[in-house]
Amino acid sequence: MSTDDTAQSTPDPGLLADVIEWMGIPSISTEATDPAQLEAAAQWAADRVTAAGGSAELVRIGGGNPLVVGDLAASTGNDAPTILIYGHYDVQGPGPADLWSSPPFEPEVRDGRLYGRGSSDDKGNFLPLLRVACELKQGDELPVNVRVLIEGEEERGSEAVSAWLQTDERGADAAIVFDSAMADERTPAITLGLRGVVMLELRVRTAERNLHSGIYGGSVLNALHALHAILAAVVPDPDGAVREELREGTLAPSPSELESWQRLPDAAQLFAEAGARPVSPDAAADYYRRNGAEPSLEVNRIEGGEARTVVPATAEATISLRLAPGQDPAQMRPTLERLLREAAPEGAELEIVPEHDATPILFAPDDPAVQLAARALERACGVAPALVRTGGSIPIVAEMAARGYPVIVGGFALPEDQIHGPNESFALQSLALGEAAARELYRELAALPRRD
Ligand code: BES
Ligand code: MN
Ligand code: MN
Repeated sequence: MSTDDTAQSTPDPGLLADVIEWMGIPSISTEATDPAQLEAAAQWAADRVTAAGGSAELVRIGGGNPLVVGDLAASTGNDAPTILIYGHYDVQGPGPADLWSSPPFEPEVRDGRLYGRGSSDDKGNFLPLLRVACELKQGDELPVNVRVLIEGEEERGSEAVSAWLQTDERGADAAIVFDSAMADERTPAITLGLRGVVMLELRVRTAERNLHSGIYGGSVLNALHALHAILAAVVPDPDGAVREELREGTLAPSPSELESWQRLPDAAQLFAEAGARPVSPDAAADYYRRNGAEPSLEVNRIEGGEARTVVPATAEATISLRLAPGQDPAQMRPTLERLLREAAPEGAELEIVPEHDATPILFAPDDPAVQLAARALERACGVAPALVRTGGSIPIVAEMAARGYPVIVGGFALPEDQIHGPNESFALQSLALGEAAARELYRELAALPRRD
């Protein structure tokens, strides 16, 4: 293959300009959300589709953020397969402003990277799929029917898009999701496994009000102590493993898959670059098994008490259990809640407020769509893709799979992108690879048999 076929290290200037424009709209879905900005980001994407000669509308379901649902008909006629492309226009909140070197919603290119919220997750990662489809459509050379589905609440559980998918009658022959990562900065990846999640909030009450610890301390319940006892029942052991009840349903990876993980980047370096410390001495060497094939539990937040001599009356926490492929949130949520309730001290009131669920998924590497996609990515990037799992979650993927669509989960994020963190960025090289990959994927998937 000549190097001319592979992506240049700089993206098309029009693509870069589009990403910058889209990123300038602060479409935050996780906190202090502004419905007008969410709608503006959705409308921006819908306008791209109609400008290219397709159709698109904003679909509102319940009180959810608008979905962008669109169609770009194949230039080659009705026999072409239909490919659903998915991404999310919502972003996480920016966090503390002083940690950003440039304002989160004023994108800036520095040293070969595009900085700003949404650059990697997911506007910059997804947009190449949409833009290339629009370009091919305008040039009358779109080889597949493209259905566009862009949601605005992926970062808080994907409710509206799940409801939409359930009632959608048209379906697709395959889906492409660009919201995941590369194996390393040269090697593209197809993400065959995603973890699921069960998230919840705990509220503990042990008295009507905070009490003087000199009068009541040692004799009455303390809400922070009660919360501590409740959490102790589910926090991982010193090696990082969760208790057996929470591992139910997990599947051991095959020896050949375990072997393939040896070729992935050293996790000790991944931790070091993040300033993170391994939970136990073997955690780095065991990283890909833990991350892709084991559940994990995090206490995300604890609040309560005052910095005075009080016996706190209330305390709360947020926890999330990542589920490994094979596990089911409908089964694990009740198990988790039971373990928490059983650990609550007599007399402590425990309220459990459910937050989002996502089902884990694992795809077979020999699926024909995966094989076609692997060829396309190799042509686009000049390197065959690694078939990987990720410990993150994209809730809609398992639901697409449940509807029978083969799903190609790809994307060009890298660990140094700092998704969800301050100074989120996306390599211009990743943007260029995304563009080349999208082009090759459409070309290759034109050969996909239609499902009827
Ligand atoms: N794009 C990420 C998921 C992801 C992370 C894929 C890392 C590959 C590598 C997605 O936007 C995300 O953040 N998902 C949430 C889902 C949750 C809110 C249900 C997650 O994983 O925490
Ligand atoms: Mn994402
Ligand atoms: Mn995210």
